[in-house]
Amino acid sequence: MTRDRWPGAALIDKPRHFIAGDWAAPAGGSTIDVEDPATGERIGAIAAGNAQDIDRAVGAAQEAMARPVKWLATERQDALLALAAAIDAHAEELARIEMRDGGKPISNASRVDVPASAAILRYFAGWATKLSGETTELSQQGGARGFTLREPVGVVGQIIPWNYPLMGAAFKIGPAIAAGCALVLKPAEQTSVSTLRLAELTRACGFPPGFINVVTGAGAQAGAALVDHPGVSKIAFTGSTATGREIAAACGRQMKRVTVELGGKSPVIVMPDADLDAAARAIATSIFFNTGQTCSAASRLLVHAGVAGALLDRIARIAGSMKIGRTDDPDTQLGPAISAVQRERIEGFVAGALATGARAITGGDLREGPGYFVSPTVLSDVHAQAAALREEIFGPVLCAVPFETTDLDEIAALANDTPYGLAAYAWTRDLSVANGLADRLQAGTVRINACGGGDLSLPAGGVKASGFGRENGRAGVEAYTELKTVTMAY
Ligand code: NAI
Ligand code: MG
Repeated sequence: MTRDRWPGAALIDKPRHFIAGDWAAPAGGSTIDVEDPATGERIGAIAAGNAQDIDRAVGAAQEAMARPVKWLATERQDALLALAAAIDAHAEELARIEMRDGGKPISNASRVDVPASAAILRYFAGWATKLSGETTELSQQGGARGFTLREPVGVVGQIIPWNYPLMGAAFKIGPAIAAGCALVLKPAEQTSVSTLRLAELTRACGFPPGFINVVTGAGAQAGAALVDHPGVSKIAFTGSTATGREIAAACGRQMKRVTVELGGKSPVIVMPDADLDAAARAIATSIFFNTGQTCSAASRLLVHAGVAGALLDRIARIAGSMKIGRTDDPDTQLGPAISAVQRERIEGFVAGALATGARAITGGDLREGPGYFVSPTVLSDVHAQAAALREEIFGPVLCAVPFETTDLDEIAALANDTPYGLAAYAWTRDLSVANGLADRLQAGTVRINACGGGDLSLPAGGVKASGFGRENGRAGVEAYTELKTVTMAY
C-alpha cells in the first residue's frame, strides 16, 4: 500500500465533471488543489465548476427525467443494488481514495466508510418498489374516488460536506434514485475524488445517462449556482449551519423544496446508575472517531458529579491509548483534521477554553506538522459561555460539565441550553429516567445507552439550528417526492 500508487490519481490528473453518464470537460479553466491531510502534500486538482457546468448538468438531468421510456422502480432498485455491489468489488481502491483525499486511517475507511456506503445504497434500493400513495373514502354522494400519487419531486441538487465523502454521496444518491429523481451532486471541494469514482462506477450499473451527475467546485460558485438554478426542484444540503441558513433562505425566495442537515453540539447525559465502562467506550468512539468530524458526535458530556471522576478517567485512558499517525498504517486509529483551516479552528476553540479556566484532563497540546493532526482532548470546568461549549468544534474535543441534581427538568434544561438540536444521548438503567429524558430533550434523535448515528431504518435530522427535514427511513425517501391528489367522479 504505497503512497505513490494511489488509485485516485487518474481521476485528478485531468480535472473533469461527470455529466450525462460520461466525463465532461469543465467550461472554465480554474482548478482546486487536492491535498492529502496527513502530509499537507498537493496530490492533484479537481475542476472548479461554474454556472455553465451546473447548467449543463441540470440540463442532462432534466432530459433524463423527460425521456418517454420510464425508468421503472424495479430497474432503479437493481441499479442501486448493482452500485452497492460495485462498491464491494472496489472496496480496497475506494478505501485508499478516502484515506488519501480525506485523511482517514485506512482501517476506518475500509471497516466503516466503504461497507457503510454499500449498505446505505442497499437500504434505499428496497424503497424504490415500496413507495405508495393512498386511497380515501370521499364524503360525498354519487360515484367518486380519490387517491394520491407519490411523484418524484423533480431534478434535485445535492451538496455534501467533507467528513464522510463516500457515505455522504450514498446518503444522497440512494433516496433520490429510489424516488425516481435525477440528481446533480456537488461534493465538498476538499473531498471530491471518491464521489467522482462512484459516478464512474455507475456507468456499468444500469443507470440511464443523466440520472447521476457530479459537478465539482467551490461552494460559493458551483454550489450557489446549483441552489439558484431554476431547473432544480429541490436542494438537499448537509453541512454547516451558517451555509444551511443561506441555502434555506435562497430556496425560500425561489419556493424550492429544501432539506438542511446541519451541525450539532449533542449532549450526552451520564446518570449515576449508568454502565460506566460501556458509556466511556461509546462516548470516546463518538467524539474521537473520524477525528471528531461527525455531525452527531457526543461533544458535550453532562455527567453526574458522583461518577464524573470515574467516567473521565476511563475516557482519558481510551484517548491516551489511541494510535495517531500515518493514515496508511493499519494500526492507526486517529487521522488528521481535513485541512489547515480546520486544525486552526479546533486549536482556537481549545486555546480559548483553556484561557478562560478550563482544565485539560487529556490532550490540549499542539502537535507538530506535517499533516493536520490534533490530539484527542477532554476538557473539564469549561466556562459556561466559552465558545468550545457552545459552538460545533468538529474536532476530537470533549467538553465535560458535572452536575449535582437528579431532577430531570434541571438536567434536560442543561442539555437543551444550546442553539442546536441534532441528537441527544443519555446513559441510565432506569426506565423512568430514560423515558423522562426522552420526553424532555430537544433533538431530532434521542438515544438511550448509545451514542452516534442510528439505524438506516429510522429517520435522522435536526430541530432548532440543526436544520429541518429527515434522512433515512420512509421519511428520508418521501422527502424526494411530491404528493398529487386525484379525484374521479363517475
Ligand atoms: P460548509 O457548510 O460551508 O460546506 C459544506 C458544503 O457546502 C461544501 O460542499 C461546500 O462547497 C458547500 N457550500 C459552501 N458554501 C456554499 C454556498 N454559498 N452555496 C452552496 N453550497 C455551499 O462547511 P465548511 O466551511 O467546509 O466547514 C466549516 C464548519 O462547518 C466545520 O468546522 C463544522 O463545524 C461545520 N460542518 C458541519 C458539518 C456537519 O455535517 N454537521 C459538515 C461540514 C461542516
Ligand atoms: Mg483532500
